[in-house]
Amino acid sequence: QQAPEIYKGLAGVPVDYTAVSKVNPETNSLLYRGYPVQELAASATFEEVAYLLWYGELPDERQLAEFEQLERSLRGLDHEIKRIIDELPLTAHPMDVVRTAVSVIGASDPLTPDDSREANLAKSIRLFAKLPSIVSYDQRRRHELEFVEPREDLGYSANFLWQTFGELPELPVVSAFDVSMILYAEHSFNASTFTARVIASTLSDLYSAVTGAIGALKGPLHGGANEAVMHTFEEIGPGEGGAERAVEWLDAALAEKRKIMGFGHRVYKHGDSRVPTMRDSLERMVEYYDRPDLLELYVALETAMGERKNIKPNLDYPAGPTYHLMGFDTETFTPLFVASRVTGWTAHIMEQLASNALIRPLSVYNGVDERHVPEGR
Ligand code: CMC
Repeated sequence: QQAPEIYKGLAGVPVDYTAVSKVNPETNSLLYRGYPVQELAASATFEEVAYLLWYGELPDERQLAEFEQLERSLRGLDHEIKRIIDELPLTAHPMDVVRTAVSVIGASDPLTPDDSREANLAKSIRLFAKLPSIVSYDQRRRHELEFVEPREDLGYSANFLWQTFGELPELPVVSAFDVSMILYAEHSFNASTFTARVIASTLSDLYSAVTGAIGALKGPLHGGANEAVMHTFEEIGPGEGGAERAVEWLDAALAEKRKIMGFGHRVYKHGDSRVPTMRDSLERMVEYYDRPDLLELYVALETAMGERKNIKPNLDYPAGPTYHLMGFDTETFTPLFVASRVTGWTAHIMEQLASNALIRPLSVYNGVDERHVPEGR
């Protein structure tokens, strides 16, 4: 009997259709509902992109106004969630805090068991609106700072920065942050989205699917890479001479067969379609915060990685230092990814439910042959 073929890591295996986004590694393009992500980053807000992912079309003026009003009205955190976050030790990773908070929101939402599209949209918008409060609250409590109430007169990204830092951000910072949110929003059947779809396929609830997706995103081979990139930069050390130190660091790391975080991709082999747009935002932030040394280090590591391994950066590579410059704690970078990707996850959960089939692949047993418990044992 011929051994069945194993598709380790499901690499190269299409498992379903999706109309949410299209990744084309050949043309190096990424389309959200048909629109190139670069065009969206240049001319839409993150709120418009979230609407697009959920409803399939960009909103007209009235639809956007209604959507924004709803999102802004849901931003607050009730006492119970803050109390539970406060119970978590400061040693907890911020991803564990976000995962717990989403689970708590699910446990207290009366809509949780209702899996109609209408109810799931309401839950998705609720999470989308509350995640900035959760992420900023957690970063602030680590610095012994009070919660900053959301402001309904600010757009999503301006408010996120306001709640995190307690001051009104300037426009270039808001734009760079908004671009990062748009670029992180959706990327077809990546590990966390697939996790969300697996959970949804059992007819579990949307909050459970998002909680599971957060767990999948935490790993450094996936979303945790944006945090890990900054640890690399910290290991190399900022300031003068960074370029030489970066090359030395890389050679030593490769000699130890370490994976270099923020490089490589399962699907893109000629470079990540989102990197040029994010790098552009990084360069703006480098200029805004006057940190040319960081860009020098960034370029040196990228160039050396290209020369040594011919492996290109992924989105996490420019996103990590951008968030660092804005003032986010390094451990908070992946929760920022959660705040964005919740839009893509929930669009996929709803798509999965619209034509559901339980996701249950096969495995090939390679353990010991059948045996029997000795008599009299
Ligand atoms: N550093 C060093 N070597 C690498 C890297 C890297 N970052 N990426 C791939 N390689 C090498 C790998 O060692 C292997 O070499 P060999 O064939 O000699 O053993 C070859 O390239 C193929 O790598 P792979 O790990 O088998 O390929 P994959 O498709 O399973 O990996 C990946 C994709 C993203 C897990 C991997 O590139 C990686 O670990 N990158 C670092 C973590 C990272 O940046 N993750 C973010 C991914 S994209 C955005 C996101 O999801 O957040």
